[in-house]
Amino acid sequence: MKKIRKAVLPVAGLGTRVLPATKAIPKEMMPVVDRPALQYVVDEAREAGIEHFVFVTGRNKGSIEDYFDRAYELESTLRDKNKIEILDKLTSELPKAGSTSFVRQQSPLGLGHAIWCARDVIGREPFAILLPDVLVKAEKSCLAQMVEAYDQVGGNIIAVDEVPMERVSSYGVIAPKQAGVTGNLIEMSGMVEKPPKDQAPSNLKITGRYILQPEVMELLSDQAAGAGGEIQLTDAMARLMGKQSFHAFKYDGQDYDCGSKYGYFEAVCAYALDHPEIAKDARELIRKLGKTT
Ligand code: G1P
Repeated sequence: MKKIRKAVLPVAGLGTRVLPATKAIPKEMMPVVDRPALQYVVDEAREAGIEHFVFVTGRNKGSIEDYFDRAYELESTLRDKNKIEILDKLTSELPKAGSTSFVRQQSPLGLGHAIWCARDVIGREPFAILLPDVLVKAEKSCLAQMVEAYDQVGGNIIAVDEVPMERVSSYGVIAPKQAGVTGNLIEMSGMVEKPPKDQAPSNLKITGRYILQPEVMELLSDQAAGAGGEIQLTDAMARLMGKQSFHAFKYDGQDYDCGSKYGYFEAVCAYALDHPEIAKDARELIRKLGKTT
């Protein structure tokens, strides 16, 4: 079985749900405590053994490219001021030279189209996709858990989590092959993007982490627009159903949708409560605020 070496991170979205915060900075660069949201996602991928990061960018996303590059002036100032610990942290988190690619999605045609824009860099090998809007806080990184599952069953692996039926229409939703299966790997028979509640095949939403075989790229090349008038990744994957194996994977961890105001706030709280420098004060603050409201 081929190792999962490459990951696609689509970062071209406009972040309209958190405007005006995202008017001048990409939503992926919004800080969650002291790091951009995107850094958490890159770390998750790195923990899973990813060696090459393919960012699908768009207009006004230049700061993402700069963020993953050396910052000579800053580094030299930190060195002059003898702030070596901060400097070391800054440089140790940088991806290795040559391990990032940036491809441009020229028009906002949908997630499926964004992934297709990475086809030449992905080539003929299985790959991961991480949607950076979603942070998954977990003991072992969500993608690392998925890679373990992939090593057992191969094929395509889609991270899923249960949501109340009232919320299924905001997500891709999977159809399990058999009802009532237990365990965290579930054989799938289908999936549908943003179904109305009464047509949803289950309450298992797609979380935004995927391990896919490269053939999906061919299907994306002629994928018609679907839900919301956009080219949907879910629709292309659904066409592969029956030809390749698909497993839904229930990960251990908590996901936060940083593309929404409340999801972003939740993420900041959750990571603050776990941050070595501020956890204690954050806990105290939340306790105090809870009492006064
Ligand atoms: C995308 C996917 C959807 C998935 C969701 C997870 O939708 O198309 O299947 O459930 O991400 O966040 P979007 O949120 O971009 O509309």
